[in-house]
Amino acid sequence: MRIDAVSIFPDYFNVLELSLLGKAQKQGLISFQAHDLRHWTHDIHKTVDDSPYGGGAGMVMKPEPWGEAFDDLITDNRPTVIFTTPAGRPFNQALAKELSTKEHIVFACGRYEGIDQRVVEHAKSRADVLEVSLGDYVLNGGEVAALAMIEAITRLIPGFMGNAESIVEESHADGLLEYPSYTKPQIWRELEVPDVLLSGHHAEIAKWRKAQSVERTKAVRPDLLAE
Ligand code: ADE
Repeated sequence: MRIDAVSIFPDYFNVLELSLLGKAQKQGLISFQAHDLRHWTHDIHKTVDDSPYGGGAGMVMKPEPWGEAFDDLITDNRPTVIFTTPAGRPFNQALAKELSTKEHIVFACGRYEGIDQRVVEHAKSRADVLEVSLGDYVLNGGEVAALAMIEAITRLIPGFMGNAESIVEESHADGLLEYPSYTKPQIWRELEVPDVLLSGHHAEIAKWRKAQSVERTKAVRPDLLAE
């Protein structure tokens, strides 16, 4: 999978060198590149924003640098372009799964009050475009949102994770939150591991875990059960 991220703060993405993604890049599973939007400006100040038509607070990102960035980065047949924005559809595990099968994703990380909407409309002629939000809160820009999405997507690429089973069992894989986990010692500060987990009875353990998942989901995320 090829991933590009366009931002006025490309250094945000340096953390991807750490952790598993660094390894996956070396293995050739993923090629990632961050790009500075200002590379596609032509004035001495490298201007990327301007005041909004219609008035209002804040600045809007100008369309021209984004258009040129996409001219350079969209050279293949309809990649997926993701605009990170609090006004987008919510990111979730199902979307991460779907995106993990793509060949090329371009993240467009806006700042300020967002990007001129014509950039989104124009990108649709050459790419499959999604406007996606990390959650119902506002960040200073889309970089942290893109980082989170990249981590959630890339770990689902076949061969990325050492233990494929852990992906099947984790939270959100089946629309439920994951059951609680325990390890040694069996008694810690007078707190004991639930007996059933020591029984060696696999069917009973599976039943207990499922019940715990449902209970946890009901308590913390009843909206997931409704879905
Ligand atoms: N940019 C600012 N807030 C955001 C959010 N919640 N999701 C995605 N991009 C953002």
